[in-house]
This record gives sequence, structure tokens and C-alpha cells, in this order.
Amino acid sequence: MVSDVIFNRIVDEGYMRECFRLAQKGKKRVLPNPMVGCVVLDKTGKIVAKGYHKRYGAEHAERNALLKLENNEAEGGTLYVNLEPCSHYGKTPPCVNLIIERKIKRVVIGMKDVNPKVNGISKLIKAGIEVSMVLENEARFLNRVFIKNMTRQMPYVVLKTASTMDGKIATQTGSSKWITSEEAREEVYRLRKEFGCILTSSNTVIADNPRMEHKFKCILDKDLRVEKEAEIFKQGKFYVASSKNTPLKDDQLDIEYVLRKLYRRGIYTVFVECGGTLAGAMLREGLIDEVYQFIAPKILNDNSGLSCFNGDNISDISEARGLKFYEIKNVGPDLLIKGVLTT
Ligand SMILES: NC(=O)c1ccc[n+]([C@@H]2O[C@H](COP(=O)([O-])OP(=O)(O)OC[C@H]3O[C@@H](n4cnc5c(N)ncnc54)[C@H](OP(=O)(O)O)[C@@H]3O)[C@@H](O)[C@H]2O)c1
Repeated sequence: MVSDVIFNRIVDEGYMRECFRLAQKGKKRVLPNPMVGCVVLDKTGKIVAKGYHKRYGAEHAERNALLKLENNEAEGGTLYVNLEPCSHYGKTPPCVNLIIERKIKRVVIGMKDVNPKVNGISKLIKAGIEVSMVLENEARFLNRVFIKNMTRQMPYVVLKTASTMDGKIATQTGSSKWITSEEAREEVYRLRKEFGCILTSSNTVIADNPRMEHKFKCILDKDLRVEKEAEIFKQGKFYVASSKNTPLKDDQLDIEYVLRKLYRRGIYTVFVECGGTLAGAMLREGLIDEVYQFIAPKILNDNSGLSCFNGDNISDISEARGLKFYEIKNVGPDLLIKGVLTT
């Protein structure tokens, strides 16, 4: 027999997963806000309303759900929401006030808000509402971009690389076209659209002369070596970080400074496409949050081939950086592995 406590937890988790599903409907339009979904049950446990945060500036998920109820069927019921309800006046009035007004008995949240202005849980408890939390890790994973933006004032950074099975991106002569398939390259075109900016390097632009179709591109080019005629400048807007507008750190452009500058310009997510030198440097400096690695069904078997990450001389395997893979899929003949850096 499943005990009541376990049964109730399974029920709570089920509704919280529904909040996650609803929240993701706002994915493309809510940044720099979090993705939030809400499910409301009446006092008998029947779902009476659902809602989500649809776009930046629009009403929050709780308000979106509760305002659908004309006769306040939520009285004495339970409200599920994947982020602590807000308690301050922003672009919309505080959600906790509406929850208290609507006489909700219990609120189940996924995670505390990292925004220091939010103090929703204690206001709810003070009003006599029972508050509990479920699936916190999953809730934090869903809103990892928002958490990084809010706590670090920096964009969320994903590095894309495409390699052979032995982690090589080119031969020693620089021959690299093409390691992965046409399908993988099409997937890259689609992925780029999910980000606010592509970040690349002088070396990659000089070596490959890529077009990198995107509305906004940032090129690290300390000594302005990239020619004005390069394909990358023929489309979209771009920002060239050079020693003229960026401080140096160990004789290289200070990449953290560049990322913070992009954030202040409203860039919340960055997709990095570069070779092993910059990838290794960004990894060492802790500037990468996630890696998307395309792996071709090929083995180069050449020690002098160029590696995805060209970092330091590491002697102890325990110093290897750890990732948590969260998606692995076939793209044509290749594999795409998505992983979040964990150490
Ligand atoms: N397989 C793939 O997914 C993929 C993707 C892109 C490129 N590639 C290949 O990668 C090759 C180029 O690789 P690469 O290793 O020579 O170049 P890279 O990693 O793309 O870029 C190196 C450049 O980045 C800047 N940089 C490096 N370290 C830095 C640091 N610590 N701080 C700030 N800036 C730093 C420097 O440029 P400045 O001094 O000019 O600022 C440096 O010359 C090309 O052959 C290309 O085909 C492969």
C-alpha cells in the first residue's frame, strides 16, 4: 500500500510537471523573465484553471490562471506554480495579494525566486496559507537561464562544437569541412535562432570565413585582424570586441567583460562557435554554462589533429570538468549531446 504522504507527493509532482509544461509555452518570449506555469485545483481536488507567463511584461502565471475564475472556484483549493509567487510591484501587481484575496488554502512551489525583491513565501505563510516545495532541482533546471542572468548579471553561455569521436575538430593542417553531416549543420542553423547572440573568434572567421546567419553576432578580435569584407559582416548586426573597446587580461581580451557588456545590451543567451583555443580558455575561466557537442561517426586517430578544447596540461583525471547530459539525439548520422557543466 502506498502511504498517504507518498501518494500526495506523487500527486503534487504530477501537477508541478504540468506547470513545467505550461511554463515552456512562454519560452521564446519571456526573457529576461522566468518561464512560469500554474495549475489551480478547487477544494475537491479538481483542476479549475491553468495559466502561464506568456511574454515579458504580460501578467504572471498565477494571475493568468486565477483571473479566469469568475466565481472564485479556487477558494479553499491548491495552487501549483513552479516559481515562488512575487510579492512586489513590477510590471504587474504582486501575485501573493491575489492568492491571499482568493482564499487559496495551499500553495505548492517548485523553487524560491532568486530575485532578492521577491519575498512571496513568507507573505503567504503569514497569511495562514500552507506552503510546500516539490521538484526543486527540475524547477531550477527549467529556469537556469533566468537564474544565471539574475544572480550573475551575465548571459547564459552555450558552447557548440562538432567533432570526431576522438574529439577532433580539424586535422593538423586545419582541414575540417565537413566533419559532421548536412543534417547537423541544419540543426545548428535552427539552434542559433534560440539565442540572443552568436559569439565567435578572429581565428575562426579568418580560417572558415563563415556567414553565421543571425540577427546579432559578436566577434573577439583583439588586433582587428578580420577583414571588413568577411562574410560574417554581410548580414545581421555585429559587435567587434577589440583592444580599442575592451580591457585586456593576460594579454587577451577580457571575455567576462565582453559578456557583461552584452548582457547590459539586453543579450541574455550566447551561442559560442569557435575553435579549441577559445573554447579551452572560456572553459578554464568558468564562462561556459553548457556544451552542445555534435559527434560524427568518425575517428581521426591523429594526435596532432585540433581538439575541441585546447586547455591546460592536466595531470590528474579528477581535475576533468564534469557535465550532466540532459539530451542525446541522433541528427542524421551524427549524435548531438547537450550537457550542463556541473563542476
Ligand atoms: N568544429 C567546430 O565546431 C568548430 C567551430 C568553429 C571553428 N572551428 C575551427 O576552429 C579553428 C580555429 O580554432 P583556433 O583554436 O585557432 O581559434 P579559436 O579558438 O576559434 O579562436 C582563438 C582566438 O580567440 C581569441 N582568444 C583565445 N583565447 C582567448 C582568451 N583567453 N581570451 C580572449 N580571447 C581569446 C584570440 O583572438 P584575438 O587575439 O584575435 O582576440 C585567439 O586567437 C578553425 O580551423 C575552425 O575551422 C571548429
